[in-house]
Amino acid sequence: MTYKVSLEPVGLEMEVEEGETVLEAAFRQGVALMHGCKEGQCSTCKSILLEGDADMGRYSTFALPDHEAEEGYVLLCKTLAYSDLKVELIQYDEEALKVSIPIKTYQTSIEKIESLTHDIRKLTIALNEPAGITFHAGQFVDIYVPGQNFYRSYSMANTPQQPDKLEFMIKTFKGGKFSTLLDQQFKNGDILEVKGPYGNCIRKEDNHGDMILIGGGSGMAPLWAILNDMAEKNVKRNITFFYGARSAKDLFYLDKFKEIEKRLDGFQYIPALSEAQTEDNWSGETGLITEVIDRYLKSNDLDKDLEVFLCGPAPMIDSAIKVLRDEGITPDRIFFDKFIPASN
Ligand code: FES
Repeated sequence: MTYKVSLEPVGLEMEVEEGETVLEAAFRQGVALMHGCKEGQCSTCKSILLEGDADMGRYSTFALPDHEAEEGYVLLCKTLAYSDLKVELIQYDEEALKVSIPIKTYQTSIEKIESLTHDIRKLTIALNEPAGITFHAGQFVDIYVPGQNFYRSYSMANTPQQPDKLEFMIKTFKGGKFSTLLDQQFKNGDILEVKGPYGNCIRKEDNHGDMILIGGGSGMAPLWAILNDMAEKNVKRNITFFYGARSAKDLFYLDKFKEIEKRLDGFQYIPALSEAQTEDNWSGETGLITEVIDRYLKSNDLDKDLEVFLCGPAPMIDSAIKVLRDEGITPDRIFFDKFIPASN
């Protein structure tokens, strides 16, 4: 059984199959709806069901409190249709909708695993079938390990100009399923299945205002891709990249950032340490990244076309967005990719 889904206020129509969530249907048809975790945990896909019969399976009441569900709010990543639906999108990006890329599954093999810091690895995989992928800098894919019933979402750290390989920056955790495989089992040539691309943290080619990038931990990856995409295309914008780390041992690519600062006019990298150690001999910014951004925003004139891209753990993103909003930056100028801890 197939139903029709009308998306307001953008006036788009798509189909949804029985047993398929509205978000999955959108991915299949290349309609870039806003999303994060894809499993009812983050609320990024929250919308209003205006008409039709639908049901949601299990989801977090943190993402959708009961009173909102009673008022007709739904999480599209959990919504199954039982009739034609009319849905009002709360968050949407008309530009991203225009440049949507249909989701596909790719067979890949591991090409290299390197250490960037004591707990961040760089994973490079080669695309085998299909042999190339189209994506936008800032997007992510789901990585499936054959024979194991789990996947992890990771943002691409490379630019779309290199479509036959994907690079990721992966933070490893003690006891983490993927971390353990990465550090103890994976070897070059191992097969991984990749599904994507996902994510709406995408730079608009025709925006030329100032730009702030804010990252923490492996949240460097999509921002690194966006930055390098601009450097490769010689995009002229004032770009300030804030990166929050605990101590100097958590920093990497300092030489690469210096090199980009030399060749990209208007770019500056501001790493900040929240727990600088004596042996770090650190003379740069200190404190939580949100405090550093607050100081920066209060002491600089902000461009009216300023755009901010954030990527990292959910608490960091939420606190940073609050700081940005307090300084008058409107939600349509804020783009983010929140890392939600894996539920299995
Ligand atoms: S709750 Fe739907 S994408 Fe996270």
